[in-house]
Amino acid sequence: MSNKEIVVSGIRPTGNLHLGNYFGAVKNFVKMQEAGGCFFFIADYHSLTTHPTPGDLQSNVKQVLIEYLAAGLDPDKSTLYLQSDVPETAELYLFLNMNAYLGELERVTTFKDKARKQPNNVNAGLLTYPTLMAADIIIHKAAKVPVGKDQEQNLEMTRTFARRFNHMYKTEYFPIPTAYNFGEQLVKIPGLDGSGKMGKSEGEGNAIFLNDDPKKLRKKVMRAVSDSGPTEMNQEKPEAIQNLFSLMDIVTKPEIVEQFNTQYNDCTIRYGDLKKQLAEDMINFTEPFREKIAELSSNDDYIKKVMNMGAEKARESARKTVEEVREIIGFRKYYTVQ
Ligand code: TYM
Repeated sequence: MSNKEIVVSGIRPTGNLHLGNYFGAVKNFVKMQEAGGCFFFIADYHSLTTHPTPGDLQSNVKQVLIEYLAAGLDPDKSTLYLQSDVPETAELYLFLNMNAYLGELERVTTFKDKARKQPNNVNAGLLTYPTLMAADIIIHKAAKVPVGKDQEQNLEMTRTFARRFNHMYKTEYFPIPTAYNFGEQLVKIPGLDGSGKMGKSEGEGNAIFLNDDPKKLRKKVMRAVSDSGPTEMNQEKPEAIQNLFSLMDIVTKPEIVEQFNTQYNDCTIRYGDLKKQLAEDMINFTEPFREKIAELSSNDDYIKKVMNMGAEKARESARKTVEEVREIIGFRKYYTVQ
């Protein structure tokens, strides 16, 4: 694996994967695993910032792993693991925190958003979220990090921390990783609530999950925010309408999207028809995922096997890095002492 470009990315176990997770991240994971050198994990340490119960944590972790597999990740091609199965991550996080500054951490947009949304729980883990994320990435000396647009700033922080470590210890030990989408712009999938991105915490009904049953999915799409329709020919689309078209772009045949576009431009569009089309196309798109999720959900032994296999491979890589980092920093190399 030495001269291969290492790939690392992860997803927080906050429940089911939605179309934003899929098109922003997992779809690329599946493409990238063919070349090998991939580490995809479930960011369960990160999820502790919102204090889940042990039961919820366990079931959400299992669910994300099942959905990774249902989406096409293959444990024989990629290392699939739980972040907390690699405690070396926590050690590297500690090292990076010594060299991360309050001012820069407080300026991170996701920190400011979270602090606004949960004012009674602005914990240190939330503040140092970017250093833990940097630890996840550089612990395998990654070069490429497939993520959606919302993670761009966190990736910038990872680059800063990796550069800072290299500079401080006069080394080129850590590669400087980049956010990756096959040379394309990073993806941002909008939600159904008229503004912003699809996300779990953006409110009920905003996200379409891979595992949504057709009835629920149809209901969410039919309730999506729209307006009373265009009043002038070729008028610019307001955000809520543009969002519906962007969602159509990912699941609907281009010629059908074009028909709706023409109808929008000549003011004959009926949003009810557009939503019906969007819902049916989303149902068709998600159907194979739902089937595989159901199949894997009853196979606990296999899920455990995948977790154990991944933990071993990920720890091997992480342990090597942390051992070398300890030496660079000036610590004793205790890992090799029996
Ligand atoms: P998380 O769990 O919020 O999201 C996981 C992945 O899904 C992408 N994503 C989206 N992409 C496009 N449009 C959307 N609406 C959308 N919503 C989510 C995210 O960009 C992400 O790629 N901090 C990370 C987890 C993490 C991580 C890491 C990622 C922890 N350590 C190291 C990469 C490398 C997060 O909260 O993602």
